[in-house]
Amino acid sequence: MDRTTEILHTRVNTSQAKSNVTPLYQCSSFLSDSDYFYTRKGNPNTTELEQVFQVLEGCRYARVVTTGMSAIYAALRLLKPGDHLIVDRLIYGCTYKLFKDFCQHYGIELDFIDVAGSALKQTMKSNTQMIFFETPTNPFLKSISISKVQQIARESQPSVRIVVDNTWATPFFQRPLELGADVCVYSATKFYSGHSDCMGGVLTTNHEDLAETIAQNRFYSGAILDPHSAWLIRRSMQTFSLRMEGHQAVLREMREFLEKQEEVAQIFYPEINSQLTGYGCILFFELTAEFEEKAERFMKSLRLFERGTSMASVVSAVAQPFSGSHLSLSCQEKAEMGIRPRLLRLCFGFEKPEDLKSDLKIAFRKLHE
Ligand SMILES: Cc1ncc(COP(=O)(O)O)c(C=O)c1O
Repeated sequence: MDRTTEILHTRVNTSQAKSNVTPLYQCSSFLSDSDYFYTRKGNPNTTELEQVFQVLEGCRYARVVTTGMSAIYAALRLLKPGDHLIVDRLIYGCTYKLFKDFCQHYGIELDFIDVAGSALKQTMKSNTQMIFFETPTNPFLKSISISKVQQIARESQPSVRIVVDNTWATPFFQRPLELGADVCVYSATKFYSGHSDCMGGVLTTNHEDLAETIAQNRFYSGAILDPHSAWLIRRSMQTFSLRMEGHQAVLREMREFLEKQEEVAQIFYPEINSQLTGYGCILFFELTAEFEEKAERFMKSLRLFERGTSMASVVSAVAQPFSGSHLSLSCQEKAEMGIRPRLLRLCFGFEKPEDLKSDLKIAFRKLHE
């Protein structure tokens, strides 16, 4: 046999390799007698990661996709032209944009309201098929009662689906499916990856029909998570609970510190209750009005907080929603959400809190220069 041919067919026998963790299956397809078929449909790495999410959430189905936005898109695909979608007004900027574009394109009626208020009952229609919200919200970390939304919505429209973006709480602190949500969506790019080194998205549900539809749509649209990212996120999930407990402890300490700073007008932090049993990493605060134009100076003075879109990672980060996560919104849309230039988001990583405090103190002092 020619060496060229032999090289093409050389394979190590792995049947006795017995690795202690599942190796990376960096392959696009499988042999005809395999349990798998084609990576666009599923792969041992994506399957194992889905099993991890099922355990974490205590649910029947999990589907991993390329990014958090891809997960939200997959949820939107459950709607059809002529349906009505209600979305909470406080929402991640790209999600807001996606909803507007998607609904316009596919002829879906769309209302942005405060779903926690009395407007929900009044906005429900006979064709309302989905209610989508984040809790806690981005920005301002407002809590929305999942069971209350579900109850009010179902009274008007029994077939309505409740979809919760649970990215910021994670199932470690909040389990929407147990409180009446039909589907949860996640950006796995955040706490699940935890190290700002790969992207991913997840949908979870207990409904077999929805899980099947999402899997079919994922197969035909090619939105499945790639094996390498699945492997990396699965690896990160081994330290997930340790990181979430750590994030909670660091946030508690840093919040107490911020409360004492005279340059801080208000801190936004979610209510801890029977729905959200804990919380970590991310908070928002507003500088006092005199520093409205100095948020950028504050951010640039920080040395231990990365500037940019990184968040929910082992390294701390600072961002200005006005020019970052909500940049794609018009000034009027931002004003309606209450997003001012002096609103800042801090994500605390695992640097020593004393070092973070020193860094912040210097930046607060520089505001006065
Ligand atoms: C709450 C929330 N949902 C969804 C997304 C989108 O996730 P991804 O960036 O992985 O597409 C983000 C991104 O910041 C987010 O904060």
